Amino acid sequence: MIERINRLLAEIEAIKAGSLEEVEQLRLKYLSKKGLVTVMFDDFKTVPAELKREVGQRLNELKNKAGQRIEELKSGFDQVQASSATSLDLTRPVNSMQPGTRHPLSIVRNQIIEIFGRIGFTVADGPEIEDDWHNFSALNFTADHPARDMQDTFFIATNPDILLRTHTSSVQIRTMENTKPPIRMIFPGRVFRNEAISARAHCIFHQVEGLYIDKNVSFADLKQSLMYFAKEMFGENTKIRLRPSYFPFTEPSGEMDVSCLICGGVGCNICKHTGWVEILGCGMVDPNALENCGIDSQAYTGFAFGMGIERITMLKYQIRDLRLFFENDVRFLQQFTGS
Ligand code: DAH
Repeated sequence: MIERINRLLAEIEAIKAGSLEEVEQLRLKYLSKKGLVTVMFDDFKTVPAELKREVGQRLNELKNKAGQRIEELKSGFDQVQASSATSLDLTRPVNSMQPGTRHPLSIVRNQIIEIFGRIGFTVADGPEIEDDWHNFSALNFTADHPARDMQDTFFIATNPDILLRTHTSSVQIRTMENTKPPIRMIFPGRVFRNEAISARAHCIFHQVEGLYIDKNVSFADLKQSLMYFAKEMFGENTKIRLRPSYFPFTEPSGEMDVSCLICGGVGCNICKHTGWVEILGCGMVDPNALENCGIDSQAYTGFAFGMGIERITMLKYQIRDLRLFFENDVRFLQQFTGS
């Protein structure tokens, strides 16, 4: 009897099933009324009294083992079924998602790109680590030119020729060196200056440079393009004015103001009671800058402009402290919607 129990035990430990129906077949085979395990209990009557205890124990063990094994096989199939597509509960609520918002500087940069895109300007990029030639010399800043003082930056001690660009005008030079006119491009990017950080200045900020070179480009084209931009960016009623200024790489040079968005030109503390706020520098590209890049200044003329994205964003959204752009406080960032 013990021998038969052991054999059956070994057999049951090894049983396998390929489906739930097969498991049921096995249950019937071993545990139904006429099952192999059940009938062993019938034979128990014939076991001699002195062996009854041991045989009884082993029989119960066999019955438990068989039950356990059948359950094991069954639950394997239950799990497969639960994870199959047919039992996927599509009505369950999803985990809530919190999409981020675009940074205000990115929103405004994309708007600038989009506005100039409508009048034919494409976008190009340049390196943030520059050499003296592209950031200064080719732009007509001679080695001891006082205009360099206004754009102090970060130099590398072992090589003064390498610096962090102070403006995106460096990309003007790179583009003119490599592209045959006509050129109609804007260059957005990050720039660096050695400035103490305050509500109005930072050692890192962003600019968008613009460049249009072709035959017969005039100051009228410059004015018209910038007026279009100002109205698209700040609203149809925006007025512009150009004041004479100086940049080494443009001649003549100007600075452009827009009528104050806050007071509409009447005067308030944002525009320091002048009714105007400055938004960019511009001018006709100096013939020296064209020649430095291998462009024939007799055949071609062009205009350029450069604006600070922080400044435009602060005006547009009435943000009073530039440091907010860099602090990444979500309470600030979540207030802006746009693409
Ligand atoms: N690069 C100048 C700056 O950062 C801005 C500027 C002025 C760019 C006049 C221009 C320009 O292209 O024509 O102060």
